[in-house]
Amino acid sequence: MSILITGATGKLGSLIIEQLLQKVPSSQIIACVRHTEKAEHYIKLGIEVRFGDYDQLESIEMAFSGITQLLLISSSHTDDSVRLVQHSNVIAAAKKAGVKQLLYTSFAFPRQGPIPTNHVHRLTEQVIFESGLDYTILRNALYTDFVGVLGLNEAIDSGKFITYPGNWQFNTVTRQDLAIGTAQILTTSGHVNQIYELTAPRPWDFSELSAILSELAGKPVVHREDSSIQNWIYAFLSKIDTVSTSEDLERFMGCPITPLKDSILPFINPVK
Ligand SMILES: NC(=O)c1ccc[n+]([C@@H]2O[C@H](COP(=O)([O-])OP(=O)(O)OC[C@H]3O[C@@H](n4cnc5c(N)ncnc54)[C@H](OP(=O)(O)O)[C@@H]3O)[C@@H](O)[C@H]2O)c1
Repeated sequence: MSILITGATGKLGSLIIEQLLQKVPSSQIIACVRHTEKAEHYIKLGIEVRFGDYDQLESIEMAFSGITQLLLISSSHTDDSVRLVQHSNVIAAAKKAGVKQLLYTSFAFPRQGPIPTNHVHRLTEQVIFESGLDYTILRNALYTDFVGVLGLNEAIDSGKFITYPGNWQFNTVTRQDLAIGTAQILTTSGHVNQIYELTAPRPWDFSELSAILSELAGKPVVHREDSSIQNWIYAFLSKIDTVSTSEDLERFMGCPITPLKDSILPFINPVK
C-alpha cells in the first residue's frame, strides 16, 4: 500500500500530507515534487520524495513505479491548454506504471452541456474515464481564500463593504477542510469510480460576511452593492457554480466544516 501525492510542496498537497501522517505510517506516503530541494522536511519525517515534473513524461513514469494510489493535484500552470497536456501526461504515466487508483482534484459542479474547450477539469475527467484506470474524482469547491480580493480590510476601515450587484452565494471551503476530507478518502475503502463534490453543505452570502466583518471590527460594516466597482473576481465567479452544495465533504471530515468567521481570519489585518 503506497500513496503518492503530486504537487506535494504546494499548499493543498502539504496539508494533505500533514493529515495523512495522522492516519498511516510515513513509509506509506510518497511526495512527488518538481523541486526536490523544497521537500527536505519530508525526508526528515520518513516520507520518500520522488522527482516528477508533469512536463517530463519519463520523470513521472519513474516516480509512479510501484504506487497503489496516486493523487493528482491539478497543475497550477496559468494556461489551461498546458494544464490539460500535463494532466494527460500524469494519467498516461499512471497507466503505464500500473497505478491501481488515480484520484484527481477537479472543480465542483462543472457546468453541464457541451464541454467548453477551456474547461480543463471536465476534459481531464474525461481523459481519466477513457484511461480505464480506477478513479476517484474529488471536485473541490472554490477556496474561501478568494475573499482576499474582496477588500475586507478596506471595508472594516470605511464601515462599507461594497460588492458587485447580484444574488451571490458561495459554497466555498478551506484547503485545510479539503485536506482532512481527502486524507480520509485516501485511507478508507469504497471510493473506486466515485465522484465527490467537496463543497460547503450550505452557501454563505455577502450579508453574512458583512455581519462577520462588523463583529470583527466592533462597529457596523454595512453591505452595499455598486455596479461601478472594478474587480476581476466577479467575471470569474460568474463563470463557475458557487451555489450548489453537497454533504460529501462534511461526511468525510466527520465534523462540520470550518465556520466562515474562522476561514476569513487569515485575510483580516490585526486590529491597530
Ligand atoms: N479550488 C480553488 O479555489 C483553487 C484555487 C487555485 C488553484 N486551484 C487548483 O488547485 C491546485 C492545488 O492548489 P494549491 O493551493 O495547493 O496550489 P499551489 O500551492 O500553487 O500548488 C500547486 C502544486 O503544483 C505543483 N506543480 C505545478 N506545476 C508542476 C509541474 N509541471 N510538475 C509537477 N508539479 C507541478 C507545484 O510545484 P511547486 O511547489 O514546485 O511550485 C505545487 O506543488 C492548484 O494547482 C490549482 O490547479 C484550485
